[in-house]
Amino acid sequence: MSIAPCSERQDGELDDMKPGVTEDGELRLTRRSFVQSAGVLAAGVAAGAGKVAEAQAASEVRAGAPRIHAVTVTINGKQQQMSLDTRTTLLDALREHLDLTGSKKGCDHGQCGACTVLVDGRRVNACLTLLATLDGAQVTTIEGLAQGDTLSPVQAAFLHHDGFQCGYCTPGQICSATALIEEQKHGMLSQVSWEKGMAATGRPELSDDEIRERMSGNICRCGAYPNIVAAVRAAAGMGAAASLGSSSRNEVGA
Ligand code: FES
Ligand code: FES
Repeated sequence: MSIAPCSERQDGELDDMKPGVTEDGELRLTRRSFVQSAGVLAAGVAAGAGKVAEAQAASEVRAGAPRIHAVTVTINGKQQQMSLDTRTTLLDALREHLDLTGSKKGCDHGQCGACTVLVDGRRVNACLTLLATLDGAQVTTIEGLAQGDTLSPVQAAFLHHDGFQCGYCTPGQICSATALIEEQKHGMLSQVSWEKGMAATGRPELSDDEIRERMSGNICRCGAYPNIVAAVRAAAGMGAAASLGSSSRNEVGA
């Protein structure tokens, strides 16, 4: 089916013709019927576009809607059941839902270490750890290291060696140092262990270089590094068995 070109029509013919299909199978339109058809077509397209936009908006709402996931996590020895948005980080769960504000939010991007906590004995950045992944885990925060009024060996060493100034990074530093000492006990190596040829010994001594390397994920904007290193060295020398709690999922260094 085709539309007869206007050039084959006489002036005024289009206005006089009735719309329809000719004997040759041509679609015949007057100006009026063409304009009417175009209007109907445009309205149909607009209605279709509206439906598409509506479906797209609904899909965006669905994508942004919270999805709740329930987990049971032991935090500082206390079992907690939480049903939160799957996007909730461990750091936000601790600070905003459990009122455990000792773990700090520095960068919220895994770059400063202020949020460091222990999960099954391993140090992690709580700002990068989704709560939804921790079902059955044991979490220890800075609030869980002391036994009542008795500080953990690492906490006591930080106090004794003045390993902080403003204190914002300190909870993360202490959690990190606590795990570091356990890692060294279990023979975990660092880059410095290899560079200094200590890897073959199986359990490199915690030299200052080792401590600096192993604590390099914890930034201190006050620059209290010399005292932090001294505190970690002292705590390690005391055989600081940290209050990690027992790990049911992953033993440190396993
Ligand atoms: Fe988590 Fe900075 S707040 S690494
Ligand atoms: Fe202030 Fe470390 S003591 S950031």
